[in-house]
Order: sequence, then C-alpha cells, then structure tokens
Amino acid sequence: MRVSSSRLVSAVSNEGALGVIATVGLSEELPDMTPDYPTRAEIGLRQVINETRSSTSKPFGVNVMCALTNYDSLIQVSVAGGVDAIISGAGLPLRLPGLVSDPHVKLLPIVSSARAASIVCRTWKKRFSRLPDAIVVEGPLAGGHLGFSHEELENLEALQLERIVAEVLVVAREFGSIPVVAAGGVFDGTDIARFLRLGASGVQMATRFVCTHECDAADAYKQAFINCRKEDIVVIHSPVGMPARVIKNDFVERHLRGEKVNFGCPYHCLVTCEPAVAGYCIAQALVASYRGQMDKGYAMCGANAWRCDRIVSVHELMEELVEGTAAALRNQSPNHN
Ligand SMILES: Cc1cc2nc3c(=O)[nH]c(=O)nc-3n(C[C@H](O)[C@H](O)[C@H](O)COP(=O)(O)O)c2cc1C
Repeated sequence: MRVSSSRLVSAVSNEGALGVIATVGLSEELPDMTPDYPTRAEIGLRQVINETRSSTSKPFGVNVMCALTNYDSLIQVSVAGGVDAIISGAGLPLRLPGLVSDPHVKLLPIVSSARAASIVCRTWKKRFSRLPDAIVVEGPLAGGHLGFSHEELENLEALQLERIVAEVLVVAREFGSIPVVAAGGVFDGTDIARFLRLGASGVQMATRFVCTHECDAADAYKQAFINCRKEDIVVIHSPVGMPARVIKNDFVERHLRGEKVNFGCPYHCLVTCEPAVAGYCIAQALVASYRGQMDKGYAMCGANAWRCDRIVSVHELMEELVEGTAAALRNQSPNHN
C-alpha cells in the first residue's frame, strides 16, 4: 500500500537489489476528478512506474495481489510500462503468464508451500508452456497477508521457513532448477547466509526497508515500527479473507473488540472483501496509516519488526546486509578456522 513506491523502489534498485512497487492504493494521491476506480488505479500505477524509471536505470518490479479485482489491468499497465518483473501472491497466480506475452518480463509467483509451488509450475507449463523465473517462498513470519490459516499460525514451530524452502527447492529442481527466493522474517546477513546455504538464490525483505529514510510511508508509520514491542505484533483477520500481521494500536483493538467503522465501499477493490461484514475498509485504513493517520488504520509488519531500532538510509541497510552476509558465509564456510 504505497509504502513501497517510487522513492524506496528506485533507492533499492540503485543499490543493486530489485525494488518492487506495491500496486494497491496507487489511485489515492490523484486529484478527485478522474473517473472510475480501475482507471484511476491504472493512472496511478503508470505514474509510479514513470517516477521510478526517472530515478533509476536499474531493473525494478511490481507486486500485484491476485485478490485485486483490477488484477488484469494492473498487470497490463505494468507490462506496457516495461517493468522487469512481476511478483504475484495473495492467492495462486495461475493465470499470470496468459496476461504477459513478453518473455523478458520475469514472473515470480509467491507461494507458502511446496504443494502450491507444484500446482503453479504444473499449471503454467501445461497451459502456457512457461515456468516461473523464480519462486518466492513466503513463510509464517512475513508481514502483511499470510498464506496460512490462523490455526496453522498458532504452531509456528511446524511452519519453519527453512523447512518450506527446502521442500520448494525439491519442486523447483523437478522443473529444472527454478531459483527460489526466501521471504518472511529475514532480518540480517546471518539469516540471508542461512537461506543461501540451504540452496535459496536470494531473499525478499520488507520490514527492514520500512525503517529507511527512503520508504515512502509517513514518519509516524516508520515510528510505529521503531516503537513496537514484540507483544504489540499481532495476527488479525483481514477483510482480504486472510490472516494479516500488523502492529496493534487503538484502531486494531477496536476492530478486535468487534467495533465496526461505517463505510460506503467506494470501489470493490478486493475479490474476497464483503463490505457488509468487513468491519472497516482495509484500503482506507492502509492509505490512512501510510499518510501517518495511525488512529484511522494500522501498519502491517513482519514478525521481526520489534527488532528495528532506528531509521537508516537504504545504502546503509544494503551495506550492512551485504557485509553481514559475506561475514556469515565466511564464518560458516567449511574451510574457516
Ligand atoms: C508494510 C508491508 C506491506 C506489504 N505489502 C505487500 C503487498 O502489497 N503484497 C505482497 O505480496 N506482500 C506484501 N508484503 C509482504 C512482503 O512482500 C514480504 O514478503 C514479507 O513481509 C517479507 O518478510 P519481512 O517483512 O519479515 O522482511 C508486505 C509486507 C509489509 C511489511
């Protein structure tokens, strides 16, 4: 939700990683006279892609959630805008290759199990003669929406990302060495080295990058990360129809008590949302918090957000991560003495 927009994305890509634009809520900063929601969202996305391109010559991607009602049009705008990669989850992106004829655009499904990875690979191969360019494996410690049930999340031991990555690697090898990217709770170089040693080709990180000067969200959003304690991080039932990890505040407590925020649904943005029972509009709540109005929404975060203790530049963070990974790989190397 705009938290990862042109400023953060270009800074990350300029450091040699792949910055990823979040494609929800992009119409919110447009003047009010533009037409219907899907058109506004297209205009907003085009604008962010152009802003990003003017700040970096390096590759960058977009994240488009399957649960969005305007999924197809956001994919089309992304392809036409020349993005280098499309990362897609919150549901299985089984139709994605059918919407992207350009083979140069890398396609990365997000999965939370080997079974889901296998379904995506089999379906893409059969229907489109295409395989994922990489598979993002998102574990139970991730931020935002989670691909696990509330019951599953109560037993985190059984859901270790390391185990899921190892299982997905087996599927990836069956289909010819598809690179696997680990996501969810990866916090420092030691974590990155652990996943690389396990056979992952890379990691996807969000929480650490919220606590950067370049992150597009308001300072109050970043401060919620800096100030939160471990016990403030909770998993709620989101109107998206999936569990979501967030930082508890008054808004979340009111929601947990069952209080409802009256809202007229201005646009039906989520396939899975039922406005009559949702309790509040998640799009409005996330846009409000992105703008720093934390009384009207909440911050999504990964399980390790409580470990963030300062705001740094993307350059500093990347340097810390790269050096930390190199040191951890050296220390763990069999030749190390
Ligand atoms: C503030 C925030 C917003 C996120 N928004 C999205 C999103 O729009 N789509 C998505 O697929 N994942 C989203 N995620 C999940 C991340 O892409 C990522 O996989 C995960 O949070 C990685 O774990 P980490 O936060 O511990 O690094 C979000 C995460 C955070 C913290």
